[in-house]
Amino acid sequence: MRLLLSLQSPPGAVQEAVEVALDAGYQHVDCAYFYQNEAEIGAAFQKKFGEGRLKRDELYVVSKLWNSFHAPQDVKPAFLKSLMMLNLDYLDLYLMHSPMGFPGPQEVSSPTPCSKQDQSPTKSSSTSLFSWQTMEKLVDEGLVKSVGVSNFNVSQLERLLSVCRIKPAANQVELHPYLTQPQLVEYCKSKGIVLIAYSPFGCPNSPVPLLENPTVNEIAQKHGKTSAQVLIRFHIQRGIATIPKSITPARIVENAEVTGMASKPGALFRSWRMAEVLLSPEQGETINLERLKPFNVH
Ligand SMILES: NC(=O)c1ccc[n+]([C@@H]2O[C@H](COP(=O)([O-])OP(=O)(O)OC[C@H]3O[C@@H](n4cnc5c(N)ncnc54)[C@H](OP(=O)(O)O)[C@@H]3O)[C@@H](O)[C@H]2O)c1
Repeated sequence: MRLLLSLQSPPGAVQEAVEVALDAGYQHVDCAYFYQNEAEIGAAFQKKFGEGRLKRDELYVVSKLWNSFHAPQDVKPAFLKSLMMLNLDYLDLYLMHSPMGFPGPQEVSSPTPCSKQDQSPTKSSSTSLFSWQTMEKLVDEGLVKSVGVSNFNVSQLERLLSVCRIKPAANQVELHPYLTQPQLVEYCKSKGIVLIAYSPFGCPNSPVPLLENPTVNEIAQKHGKTSAQVLIRFHIQRGIATIPKSITPARIVENAEVTGMASKPGALFRSWRMAEVLLSPEQGETINLERLKPFNVH
């Protein structure tokens, strides 16, 4: 099993976290220009390559095109910047971070402060299709093995699939028991697009944070695992990759130990659709564990 690590963390702690993760056997490293820590991640790669502990082809490195660089002339320079900071000569996967780009200066009709320009999504012509075509050229040039998207819904995927030359290999979206997105999951599976679940531990602002949800805790106790491990396993059983984020060494190791739970799809959460109802944030505060019994969730 390939272990996945994501790195949306402030600079400073990231290099050590990556080194711990690589030593623990993680291979898939999820990065992004937007996280502003790719140089630290690159330093960790260099160190492990230098120690002879790791070969490039044992790693699967992902980065993302930030929204300010959707204009076709900006795509390759943004990609090369990430590549250079990561100290690599190719990436395994490059994702469009979001379907919406931010307008470039030429597209803003009245003078707008830079910070505003950086924050307003647009449906400008510079987005999606033209950016995608430039991303496809990165594959042709051997700079990246595959290209994909993030935060795309079904209609955005349909539009892209109807015009692309290279199909998106993956779609990285928010997924967890409070947000199971069944329609999107079915659609991606039917099109052979790999789903990568971000925020597997749920939104921290939920009335009951997923990690503290009594149902999740109960399942964890039953299997002798932690709630975090159960929430990671939830995706594995749906056939979905997930990228838990941690900069805490003990948690990085814990998050990799997700075997030894029910292995059949649906066995941990007998039905993930039911899990969605039972674990929905609206129900979170008043959840009645008795309701679990008829559905034999274990
Ligand atoms: N594509 C996108 O638009 C997008 C958007 C959001 C996120 N993402 C990606 O998805 C990644 C994960 O999402 P996320 O950061 O929102 O949420 P997450 O992985 O669900 O949660 C991260 C939080 O959980 C804590 N944590 C990790 N392991 C734990 C454990 N075993 N026990 C208890 N707490 C634990 C972490 O703390 P410590 O770090 O302090 O250990 C951190 O506070 C991000 O890093 C990013 O790469 C992508």
